[in-house]
Amino acid sequence: MLGIVFTSLVEMLEEKASPEFADEVINEAQLENDGAFTAVGYYPFSEMKKLLDVLMEKTGKSADELLHEFGVYLFGRLSQSHGQVLAGKESLLDMLQYLDGDIHVQVRKLYPDADLPRFTVKSRTDKAMRMRYYSERDLYALAEGLLDGAAAFYNCNITRETIKTGEPHTYEFSIQVTG
Ligand code: HEM
Repeated sequence: MLGIVFTSLVEMLEEKASPEFADEVINEAQLENDGAFTAVGYYPFSEMKKLLDVLMEKTGKSADELLHEFGVYLFGRLSQSHGQVLAGKESLLDMLQYLDGDIHVQVRKLYPDADLPRFTVKSRTDKAMRMRYYSERDLYALAEGLLDGAAAFYNCNITRETIKTGEPHTYEFSIQVTG
């Protein structure tokens, strides 16, 4: 998993809780590198799971709640650090339509070892979209947070629903723009 995901999580903990809380979480997670992440390094996904386990224990929140909260924050960070990949995407649904074929493609050019999920657009109208998400990591709750963060970025309100499909590691997001 790309380092920017880890550095963003640590920043979120520092900002939303405190630097001391972030340190405590890192120490208790007993990470291989003691939490010395760089944005452009790569680290095993198991390290992220260790951080989530400690956070679940400390906050009483579920992994899904934590991943959602982190996804909202992460979109804000990514749109700041990688704003160029959003160029020309004027609305939430346009951005989502080109997430797989353009945005994550640009991300892969920058970071060839990034482990990116697959998205397929199943249907799209002016105000609604249904998209399929596939990842062996099943980070649908992170994706939901990224969706909500992106809606805030594009100044729009959405309602959405997540459907687990019958296929392994595959989910569908049904998104309606309501205002
Ligand atoms: C500015 C726009 C975006 C950028 C620059 C970006 C970039 C990235 C990067 C760098 C990763 C980490 C890859 C790794 O683990 O090595 C990632 C993962 C991911 N991205 Fe994006 N992303 C963007 C928008 C979105 C949006 C809007 C969604 C929401 C649906 C999304 C869904 C995901 C998910 C769920 C992952 C975790 C990997 C997995 O599911 O297995 N991304 N993205």
